[in-house]
Amino acid sequence: METKSLNKNLRKASQAKKDEFYTQLVDIEKELKHYKEQFRGKVVYCNCDDPFESNFFKYFAANFNALKLKKLITTSYVKSPIVGGQLLLFEVEGLKPSGKEPFKIEIKKVPDADGNGAINLDDVEYLLKHDKNTATPLRGDGDFRSEECIKLIKKADIVVTNPPFSLFREYVAQLVEYEKKFIIIGNTNALTYKEIFKLIKDNKLRTGYTNFNVGMFFVVPDDWEHFHHKDEKGRKIARVSTSCWFTNMDVEKHKEYLTLYKKYNTEEYPKYDHYNAIEVSKVAEIPMDYRGTMGVPITFLDKYNPNQFEIIDGLNRYTILDVAGLNNNAVKKHLHMTEIGGKSTYFRVLIKNKKKIKYENRTAQNSNS
Ligand SMILES: C[S@@+](CC[C@H](N)C(=O)[O-])C[C@H]1O[C@@H](n2cnc3c(N)ncnc32)[C@H](O)[C@@H]1O
Repeated sequence: METKSLNKNLRKASQAKKDEFYTQLVDIEKELKHYKEQFRGKVVYCNCDDPFESNFFKYFAANFNALKLKKLITTSYVKSPIVGGQLLLFEVEGLKPSGKEPFKIEIKKVPDADGNGAINLDDVEYLLKHDKNTATPLRGDGDFRSEECIKLIKKADIVVTNPPFSLFREYVAQLVEYEKKFIIIGNTNALTYKEIFKLIKDNKLRTGYTNFNVGMFFVVPDDWEHFHHKDEKGRKIARVSTSCWFTNMDVEKHKEYLTLYKKYNTEEYPKYDHYNAIEVSKVAEIPMDYRGTMGVPITFLDKYNPNQFEIIDGLNRYTILDVAGLNNNAVKKHLHMTEIGGKSTYFRVLIKNKKKIKYENRTAQNSNS
């Protein structure tokens, strides 16, 4: 299946509030291995995760001792169409009689129950089967906004999951409201949402370690018509090229400085028709000596170091945050804010280099702008 039509599917899924993209263990491992130190002694909560099916649960349960977690909590949502079906990780007798009830699992300790010296998923399975306090049905439907789940979020230090894309804004707003640390999967389009963009600008949100341009493969329900391939177990796998990790945890790559080599000149860096900034069409070509506002592609956000650059705003049809107060006029005059010589380009992040430049360069630049 072509990437384009899968992205179209994703959009349709989002519109239809069909949010069933199940994360593969390999993608979870690839991202979460970088936060090992940050997980130590913490309560982790996966709040959109059927404990019996989610690979987030599987990852944290299997690595509970290695990560030195204090507690793992997971809750499932009653409306998930595959609850109790497709991705069963454990069969726990008596726990899922009809297979549709939302459950909560709280794990405080994973002992080496089978006595083989290693802690693994068999030990977690043993725990679930034998410790009645570990798994309990939820009273409500497991909605992350329910009172019951909010109580759990309050107890958590770090929330980690792939939440429903259609509720992404609300989901992030809740994490911010309760001042939680989080590592979540979302669509790269969300970077251009006003609320999300503002958090990035304020250095309260950043992309994770996994390069956000590579996309991810997700398991999708059996009845989906469009998918990329079937895996060895016959499950349908869809590729979403616009998926990335969002977090407010420490991410080393956002502390690295981009090496700049190009020098500013008026031919290569034209100005936008309706905004006083230059267009830089490749992140690698950000001119090292330009201190005014520059528009750069969205991929910049995956490399953004707040010590090197300042984010001013976002440029789309209109500006995202309207920092310069230009949007009213743009709406009135039907302007497209990314236009250069009457031709519009893609979404741009408006940035400024924070580094001071020598006085003589600045004077030359000012007379140019
Ligand atoms: C994108 S899927 C990911 C599932 C799982 N976290 C994973 O990564 O494999 C989002 C999940 O959130 C569930 N969900 C949808 N609306 C929800 C809500 N309001 N509260 C909690 N979970 C919800 C869906 O049923 C679905 O299982």
